[in-house]
Amino acid sequence: MAQDLEPEIDAAAAALRGGGLVILPTETVYGLAADAADPRAVAAVYEAKGRPSFNPLIAHVADLATARRIARFDDRAERLAEAFWPGPLTLVLPVGDARAVCDLARAGLDTVAVRAPAHPLARRLLAAFGGPVVAPSANRSGRPSPTTFADALDETGASAAATLDGGPCAVGLESTVVALLDEARLLRPGAVTRAQIEALIGPLAEAEADAKRSPGRLARHYAPQAPVRLNAAAPEPGEAYLAFGPAPAGETIWNLSPTGDLREAAANLFAYLRAADRTGPSGIAVAPVPQAGLGEAINDRLKRAAGFVG
Ligand code: TXA
Ligand code: MG
Repeated sequence: MAQDLEPEIDAAAAALRGGGLVILPTETVYGLAADAADPRAVAAVYEAKGRPSFNPLIAHVADLATARRIARFDDRAERLAEAFWPGPLTLVLPVGDARAVCDLARAGLDTVAVRAPAHPLARRLLAAFGGPVVAPSANRSGRPSPTTFADALDETGASAAATLDGGPCAVGLESTVVALLDEARLLRPGAVTRAQIEALIGPLAEAEADAKRSPGRLARHYAPQAPVRLNAAAPEPGEAYLAFGPAPAGETIWNLSPTGDLREAAANLFAYLRAADRTGPSGIAVAPVPQAGLGEAINDRLKRAAGFVG
């Protein structure tokens, strides 16, 4: 980034201290940030998103030392944090300091979700603010997560006291969420893959059925306006098409990755769903995407966009 942005970081930290909301770039998706300890600020986040208030939020921290103050780390958590932080991995742990992340932010649970994001602007803001910051994806509830500054402004920018433009998000999908309460469980697949996690702490159990139904895991959580049709070899007349791999070009065709690269596809997914949706198609058809590695997270979001997971 050419300019220094120190004044913007200071203004955003001041906004958080004053109970205001901040459009926050992270490497995964843009977040709508608030002081995790301030219930009124957290309530304003739920209000801006139109989100049911029983959905717990992720506490974002600058470093492992801050995370250890708000959550109780076991050996598995230490290993995963050491390997993947700062980065797109969220750990759900028993809460440590329950005042640092208020009841409303945790939806009354005695657990807390923590992550140290890698985006340089997020890291600078968290360091300047000095405490945990909740930041759900900056979309209004039920809409795709914003992966560009413009999309974030469009969704919830009007509610923000300060905004930080961090450019397009490198990952493009929300963080992997792993619960380390009893058995280690994969609550949400993401850029840190199942295989990467299992290599460090052994097999991951599936999320329980009720966890899958819980808010944040709603069937149409990532939905555009148009109906989404999966595993489509080609579009029907009237449909927009998200291709993957070699495919013909066209005005209503977006290629997630012409070379079949899953990272590129993840980074493009939400922006292309939005772009396709804006053309007002009868539907959005999506090419098959392989399930391996990052494909698990991409297919999870696609199934939700199509309303197949509940
Ligand atoms: O990549 C991300 O994680 C983005 C960026 C902005 O950091 N944030 C994000 O937050 O996706 P949100 O609020 O949209 O999703 C948080 C997820 C939800 O699925 C929620 O149910 C889960 O984390 N979660 C949070 N706290 C939890 C807890 N105590 N137990 C179980 N799940 C929890
Ligand atoms: Mg979200």
